[in-house]
Amino acid sequence: MGFVRFLALVLLSLTCVASGVLAQDKTLRLAAPAEIIDSGLLEFMLPRFALKHGVRVVVVDADADARLGRDGVPVFSKGDAGYGLSLVQDSAHGETFRAWLISEIGLRTVLSFKTDGEAVFAAPAVAEAEVEEVVLSGDAKRGQTASLRACGRCHVIGDINRMQGIGSTPSFAVLRSLEGWQERFEIFYVLNPHPAFTIIPEVIEEFDETLPSPIAPVSVTLEEIEDIVAYVASMDPADLGALIEHQ
Ligand code: HEC
Repeated sequence: MGFVRFLALVLLSLTCVASGVLAQDKTLRLAAPAEIIDSGLLEFMLPRFALKHGVRVVVVDADADARLGRDGVPVFSKGDAGYGLSLVQDSAHGETFRAWLISEIGLRTVLSFKTDGEAVFAAPAVAEAEVEEVVLSGDAKRGQTASLRACGRCHVIGDINRMQGIGSTPSFAVLRSLEGWQERFEIFYVLNPHPAFTIIPEVIEEFDETLPSPIAPVSVTLEEIEDIVAYVASMDPADLGALIEHQ
């Protein structure tokens, strides 16, 4: 452990002690592997969790309440490596943190963490089927409205704007026929070209202003994304063979 990080931990623990029992009640002690700490993910993610649940998470080496590591409930992955969260001791805050991490908002927060404009972590391999069920709780009807408003400027989303999309942009029917369409829609805002103009109020407050953006920002809520996924799920995938013959 580098001296600076050691110092930071000491300071954090001192703050804990100093702010007394009350603050201690609202603190979760988390252990994490060095590669996760060094990635910067925790600095990005923990304040968002704290904001949402009023629980401050301090990173500790020993005596943790919860541990990010290779086992526990799967929470995210990086390449072939899967990471999970285990509760080391009974802890209500640990349970809150785990529930947040495996929730859509938690997962989206992890997925939206970027280094040099690239997402660093991916969804956990095993949890994908579960995510699928949860996500389809969206409302397809509202999803159509949201798609038209937020995506219809570029994408043909259906007959409703058949003549309005941008020709070079794939239609929703074509995207629906791609493998992994659902995940692409769930995280479309980290896939190009969207990061340059997309705002998700709960997750991404501002788009990266260093990227040139000739277009007005698009703002969609997580709920709308669920609705859009339900809408896309309800449509027939494009028959790519027939489409090509048609042209
Ligand atoms: C300003 C234009 C624009 C808007 C607005 C826009 N998109 Fe896109 N989108 C594109 C383009 C262009 C591509 C194709 C990118 C490529 O081929 O690499 C694309 C690709 C996609 C993909 C496939 C990405 C992949 O890599 O697999 C998805 C999913 C998607 N868009 C969803 C959406 C949703 C949902 C919305 C609205 C909430 C939206 N887009 C709004 C321009 C836009």
